[in-house]
Amino acid sequence: MGPLLLVSALLVWPLRSGAQGDQLPLAEHLDQDQNVTLRWGFDETRDEIMFELTVKTTGWVGLGFSPNGGMAGADIVIGGVSPNGSTYFTDRHAVGQSLPLVDARQSYTILSLAEADGQTIMKFQRSIQSCDGDDFAISTSPIKLIYAFGLTDEIKYHSSRRGTKEVNLLKYSPRTSSTDGSYFDFTANNFTVPPVHTYYHCRIVKLPALGSKHHVYRIEPIIQNPDLVHHMLLYYCSPSVNETLTGMCYSGQHHAFHMCMGAMATWAVGGGGFEIPEAAGISIGGDDDVSYYRLEIHYNNQEQVSGRIDDSGLRFHYTPVLRQYDASILSVGLIVDKSYFIPPNATSFKSYALCKTSLISQLLPSPVPDLNIFMVMLHTHLAGRKIRVGHFRNGAQIDFLALDEHYDFELQQALLLGKIKNVKLGDELVLECTYNTVDRTKLTELGLATTDEMCFAYIFYYPAIDINNCWSIPDIGSIDTAIGAANHSMAVSMYESMTWDADTVEKYQDALKNVNQYVFLDNRQNDHAVQMGYIPELKATPSADCRAVQGEVTPVAGSAAAHTPGITLLLWLAALRLL
Ligand SMILES: *[C@@H]1O[C@H](CO)[C@@H](O)[C@H](O)[C@H]1NC(C)=O
Ligand SMILES: *[C@@H]1O[C@H](CO)[C@@H](O)[C@H](O)[C@H]1NC(C)=O
Ligand SMILES: *[C@@H]1O[C@H](CO)[C@@H](O)[C@H](O)[C@H]1NC(C)=O
Ligand SMILES: *[C@@H]1O[C@H](CO)[C@@H](O)[C@H](O)[C@H]1NC(C)=O
Ligand SMILES: *[C@@H]1O[C@H](CO)[C@@H](O)[C@H](O)[C@H]1NC(C)=O
Ligand SMILES: *[C@@H]1O[C@H](CO)[C@@H](O)[C@H](O)[C@H]1NC(C)=O
Repeated sequence: MGPLLLVSALLVWPLRSGAQGDQLPLAEHLDQDQNVTLRWGFDETRDEIMFELTVKTTGWVGLGFSPNGGMAGADIVIGGVSPNGSTYFTDRHAVGQSLPLVDARQSYTILSLAEADGQTIMKFQRSIQSCDGDDFAISTSPIKLIYAFGLTDEIKYHSSRRGTKEVNLLKYSPRTSSTDGSYFDFTANNFTVPPVHTYYHCRIVKLPALGSKHHVYRIEPIIQNPDLVHHMLLYYCSPSVNETLTGMCYSGQHHAFHMCMGAMATWAVGGGGFEIPEAAGISIGGDDDVSYYRLEIHYNNQEQVSGRIDDSGLRFHYTPVLRQYDASILSVGLIVDKSYFIPPNATSFKSYALCKTSLISQLLPSPVPDLNIFMVMLHTHLAGRKIRVGHFRNGAQIDFLALDEHYDFELQQALLLGKIKNVKLGDELVLECTYNTVDRTKLTELGLATTDEMCFAYIFYYPAIDINNCWSIPDIGSIDTAIGAANHSMAVSMYESMTWDADTVEKYQDALKNVNQYVFLDNRQNDHAVQMGYIPELKATPSADCRAVQGEVTPVAGSAAAHTPGITLLLWLAALRLL
């Protein structure tokens, strides 16, 4: 994206939908006629979920969470505005096909109730976890939502004015009713997958001529061989790239491959299609957009079978009807550098990557807009068990951008956040990947194979600015030097021959975390900025239990003590030197 587009992004900036849209970014029509609309947003770390139910009626409205889609056993709220303007709202539960009973404990808080243009708009919130036996505990599974409404405020039988819809509130993936518009595919082009365990297939492809700017709003995987295709990425090429090419990625074969490093779309095993929320779309075909993209397909040919032909790829649905903002992806993670390894025999080895957004001002003119984060895809390979992305401002952790305490390699879905999170220039993002290597006997390097490791978060945001990757790597050389190794290969032979038990694993983890980190940021022209930094302390994942008091999560200040290699680290380095 050129400066022109940046300016236009800034011009539309003041029009952003504001706190309302930021807090209720998710929406579904619950009925066919679109007379009943539910908007919602949530914050898992605060154990809060907020709803706004809009129904075309001036009578009563009701929303329920049902175990089986029926009324019996459902947790229901009913509210409305009386003809004299007074409002009513109650938390109820249904025991059968009869008027739901009012709960002894009212667990929902009404935020606003209004009538306008023949519609009733009811906004309310509750805790995600419920501590009342009469309330439904909202989980990350699909939930059967039921609704009903009356034509008057007398709450009585709703006849046919009712319905049900299954929605996964916390792991929501929107689906437009029609995707019969225009699309194009970028695929492997009937590629014969080589009989090797790991192969990264690269194709520089050219976007079909569109003549003007369009927005991509939905991206779907086309998977021909689910047993072979592990992940697919589409990257923007630098404007200097001007021809199509096919070859093996990261082999040094084609310099042009390295000129296409900014992610435009991601898919990994277990993921489905995904849609960009209404506010934004990925810009293509415009004057400031590039024409060439690099498709990368990671084939994991476990059985090393030869002769398998694959034409998997990604399908891009696009529209000439532009949305308010351009969306883009910021990739945050550990540089895939073989000198970084995870020791064997570790039950929960923590790796850290740092992104200092202050680097943006070295690549872009100010003012830099806040980045509105709406979706995150987390990525590690087979040893990954847990991934957390901490959000720091002025040295203190203010939030988690994303959290997956039960990371599953087989289910890597880009997930919409429960609310739009704003990252301001100068904020730091800290990615923590936790690995389990108890079944391994050798060092696990960062690398391309699924048996190597990675630690990445693909952060989807708007408005798009020209940044690609914000990656870091610890100053491993200083650790090697501290153990008395003349170079890294000598250090590796020391690491390979040592005993990795709980104690040495923890000390090596702390060494990697506590040394200075190199932090890089690049853009589509392959310009880059570098700065050193330290990994701040991430706070514990807040656990929502029934006794938890709702409210602010107390920010944990970045501990200054953690910024310098502590005594433990020095002792450990000294001990290693004695080996
Ligand atoms: C939805 O609203 C429209 C217009 O208000 C009305 O004609 C239609 O009958 C409604 N549909 C249902 C199922 O209530
Ligand atoms: C408004 O109407 C409701 C329902 O008919 C009634 O319960 C309430 O007392 C009325 N409020 C006022 C201020 O008249
Ligand atoms: C791949 O091969 C199939 C079957 O031979 C053919 O129908 C298809 O058009 C080919 N795709 C491409 C991109 O060449
Ligand atoms: C691509 O760019 C190179 C130099 O940047 C130029 O020599 C070459 O002719 C261009 N190729 C095409 C097809 O435009
Ligand atoms: C590393 O250092 C050792 C010991 O000084 C030396 O024998 C070896 O050649 C060095 N290796 C490299 C790759 O520089
Ligand atoms: C693995 O770690 C455990 C726990 O510290 C230790 O008892 C064991 O000796 C280690 N195993 C190996 C093979 O190093």
